[in-house]
Amino acid sequence: MEHHANLIPWQELCRRTGASLKYIPLDDAGALRLEEAARLITPRTRILAFTHTSNVLGNINPVGVLVGMAREVGALVVLDACQSAPHLPLDFKALDVDFAVFSGHKMLGPTGIGAVYGRSELLNAMPPFLTGGSMITTVTMEEAQYLPAPQRFEAGTQPISQAVALAAAANYLSETGMQRIARREAELGQRLVTGLSAIDGVRVLGPGREKNGPVLPRSTSPECTRTTSGSTSTSWASPSGWVIIVPSPCTAGWA
Ligand SMILES: Cc1ncc(COP(=O)(O)O)c(C=O)c1O
Repeated sequence: MEHHANLIPWQELCRRTGASLKYIPLDDAGALRLEEAARLITPRTRILAFTHTSNVLGNINPVGVLVGMAREVGALVVLDACQSAPHLPLDFKALDVDFAVFSGHKMLGPTGIGAVYGRSELLNAMPPFLTGGSMITTVTMEEAQYLPAPQRFEAGTQPISQAVALAAAANYLSETGMQRIARREAELGQRLVTGLSAIDGVRVLGPGREKNGPVLPRSTSPECTRTTSGSTSTSWASPSGWVIIVPSPCTAGWA
């Protein structure tokens, strides 16, 4: 279910720290098995990271339930909101996650920019991951003191034109209305699934309309995916429960 963007960094973190990575399994419909999640999330769990909306099957995961499990054991929650930011109304505070991320280019914005949301006390307790100009309060020949977040994470000249364009995209989506967007996508998705289901030989995969409600495929172009068996396919993923997979010569990883 997870994009490589929410997988490889954790593998790398484990390699560096000796932590171990555990996966919540999926049921046959592709939904997270919450009873397994409850077993896997223990007081030894430090971070629970999951996608809000899967780019593979379109699942909208139950953020509240998973956050509740993490809170019980004192784990931090990181939410991958790349596929929900363009399609759903989002309120990270209300979702009660500790961190959330999304990409500009998934929400009508430019490439090369995205956003990291985090609780300020957590962000300010973290060291910068890049160093350079515009992120310090004082500097001597020996050492530097860092500005509070977000500036401590914004070393060097920022991608200014991308930031302006991302703000324009966010304003456009807000003015259009995320509720309205979600509703319209649900209508179109319903039509799409009804039409597809009427085609002989088409099998619609994913948790399905009962769990998520129908919406449009999120990609206007096919995404290339590699299946776990190593074969390749082309898929159109929907943020609410369907993915169409057909054989293709694509060799890329997750789109
Ligand atoms: C759910 C999800 N997370 C993360 C990403 C990665 O985003 P980026 O292309 O900005 O690295 C994608 C891109 O498809 C995605 O669908």
